[in-house]
This record gives sequence, C-alpha cells and structure tokens, in this order.
Amino acid sequence: MHPQTTPAPAPATGPPGSTGATPDEALEALPARYYTDPDIAAAETRRVFEKSWQLVCHESDLPGPGARLSATVAGREVLVVRTEDGGLAAHLNVCRHRGTRLVTAPEPSGKAIRCPYHGWTYKLDGTLVGAPEARQIPCLDKPRLGLHRVGAESFLGFVFVNLDPAAVPLAESCAGLAEAIGHYAGPDLVPVGKYRIHDRSTAEEQHANWKVIVDNYLEGYHVPVAHPALMRLLDYQGYTVDIQESYALFESPLRDKPSSNRTERLYQRLASPMPGLTEADRRVWRYAVIYPNTLIDFYPDHVLAWTALPTAQDRAAIPGAFYTRHGESVRTRLARRLNIHIGWVTNDEDAELVERVQTGLSTPGYEPGPLSRREAAVGWFARRIRWDLDGEVR
Ligand code: FES
Ligand SMILES: [Fe+2]
Repeated sequence: MHPQTTPAPAPATGPPGSTGATPDEALEALPARYYTDPDIAAAETRRVFEKSWQLVCHESDLPGPGARLSATVAGREVLVVRTEDGGLAAHLNVCRHRGTRLVTAPEPSGKAIRCPYHGWTYKLDGTLVGAPEARQIPCLDKPRLGLHRVGAESFLGFVFVNLDPAAVPLAESCAGLAEAIGHYAGPDLVPVGKYRIHDRSTAEEQHANWKVIVDNYLEGYHVPVAHPALMRLLDYQGYTVDIQESYALFESPLRDKPSSNRTERLYQRLASPMPGLTEADRRVWRYAVIYPNTLIDFYPDHVLAWTALPTAQDRAAIPGAFYTRHGESVRTRLARRLNIHIGWVTNDEDAELVERVQTGLSTPGYEPGPLSRREAAVGWFARRIRWDLDGEVR
C-alpha cells in the first residue's frame, strides 16, 4: 500500500446514482492511493471489472452466424460469437479439455468452434458436440463439458459482456440513455478507418491509471484552460451533465461565432447530421460515460466509442473505433474528417494531462482538493468506485 496520511473516507452511503451532495456540499475526489495502489487495482478487478458490463466490440464486428472474436475482460479470456439465430453469445475462451485458448483473431464464420489442439468441437452456444476418438475418453460427459457461459448484451448496437451471472441487464441499469441518444447509435452503424474496439494492437496506451482517464472525460472544467480548439467550438456556458445511476450524459451546444482557426471554421460551416439524426442534433456534441469505463462521443457526423482498460497501475489501453451510418452525404463525410482531426488534437492534449495527473498523484503528501460543481460527474464516479470497493479499502 502507498503511505497514507489521512484515514480512508467512510464508504458512501445512499444511492450511488446521486453525486451524494447537495448543491452546496463539497464533492469529493478519490484519494491518490486509488490511482496508485496495486492492492486497490486487484480489488477493482474483482469488484469493478468482474461485475460490470465491459465494451468488447460493435455488432458490425460480428457480421453473420458463426463470426467470432476474442476479448480480455478482467484478465479473463472471453470469446464472443454471433449465434445461428443472429443473437450473441459469450463464453470463456478456454477449451474444456486441457485449457487451450480457442479463438485468437476475429474469425469469419463456421457453425462450430473447434479447438486447434485435439479437436474437441463446440456449437456456437457452447455445447460440446464431439471429441475425436471419444470412445478413448472414459467419462466424457458432454452435457457437462460445454463452454463456460458469460453474459453478453447488445446495447445501442455495441456489444458488452459481463462475468457476473447476477448482473442487471445493461439496458435496465442505463434506463433513459437509449431514449436520449439511441438515434445516434444501433447495429446499423458502420466503422470508418482502421480502428476497432476489439483490436488491441492498434489501441493507444496512455500513461495513467484508467480512472484518471475516466475522470478527465467526466468534466468540462478543464476545457477553457486545456483545449483552445474546443473552447472556440463549444458554448462552454451551455455545457451540461445529466448524472444517473449508471451513466452520465454530457451535452454541449456548438458556438455560432466563427472560429479563428481555419479547420475549425470549415467544420463549423460543414457540420451536418448523418442519416438518422435531426437538424437539432447538428449544433450539439454529446458524450456519455457508462459506468465504469465505456466512453461514447456522439457527434452530428460520427460516433466514437472507446473504453479505458488498465494494463498496469499507471497505464491504460484505450481501444476504440469511429462509426458513421450508410448514406452519409459528402458534406457530412468532410465534416467528420475535420472533426476527427480536431478530436486527435484534443486527445493529445488530454493524453499529456492525464500523464501529468498520474505523476502528481504518485507524489507522497498530495491530498485531493475540493471539486467544482462542473466536476459533479467526477464526484459521482468517485462515489460509485468507493461503493463498489466498500470493505476492500482500508
Ligand atoms: S485442449 Fe482443446 S481439444 Fe484438447
Ligand atoms: Fe479534455
């Protein structure tokens, strides 16, 4: 454990959905050790990542029956497949014979999952259907040797898995979110560019604890200081957040005043909604955080979905992908390119900031200061993390 100078705060009481504070009460950030202590990271694996819905891909990554891909969730290998009936199933990606990893890269189709070692074969639903020379295997109780099932759910067209068999369905825990932004998303989105959520080889790694990255995404308070481009584009005074039990939804109108920067000015001129959106969506950017680590940007011209996955105490991979909808206009496509360019600039600014925060948090003696009301969602996230780790952190 990191040296600590203050006692751990009392576990949160009351519903984790609220920030736990009235407008004039102080909101609390997490103490530094939550971001630096390996014991807390281990507790998070068990209490946060093994129990929450983890974004693994988009429906378009599993185009037809038999399509499959692998993901790592809370350190476990998971295999996600498109079933015969067009649904989704997830299993531990481990053969029931001697433990071989079944699927490595995305594979296009096939009605069965065949282990590359001795050839035990499973149906897409995980049932063991055959083993070579089965008569040589005493006690081959096929019904008991199916793949271990893992919860899978499609929400807004994105595929999530959950290792906890008792988990509340994501659509239920995020009631209200689909109504607010469902028209941006869905299985009909198509990826643009080379990035895919499930492709860790192209994922950027940032030098910060995963929660520093989520915290940073959860507030617009740093925008005026850290993101000049966003300040020119967004109506900062109109930046709002709706905090619910399992998600926070941000909204910022775009400014009418032309930016002094050429790329941004061109974007302002071209910004137009992709198919499915309305004229009212043209002048607003929205962002959602689904607890704990799914981050989705909803722009008029594209959707960007990503996740923050711990790779070490002070490192996180942030795999993600850009999406649009078939039938977008040339104008929307150009606007999207400009917007993604602006987004990379913002991303680089944030990458540097989160690294600085991580370095500062690791300095003994630091204790968190009060949060601004503009950081209410940081307080919400801290409260949920404390709630999940209740009893684990002393
Ligand atoms: S380990 Fe899979 S068939 Fe032997
Ligand atoms: Fe930022």
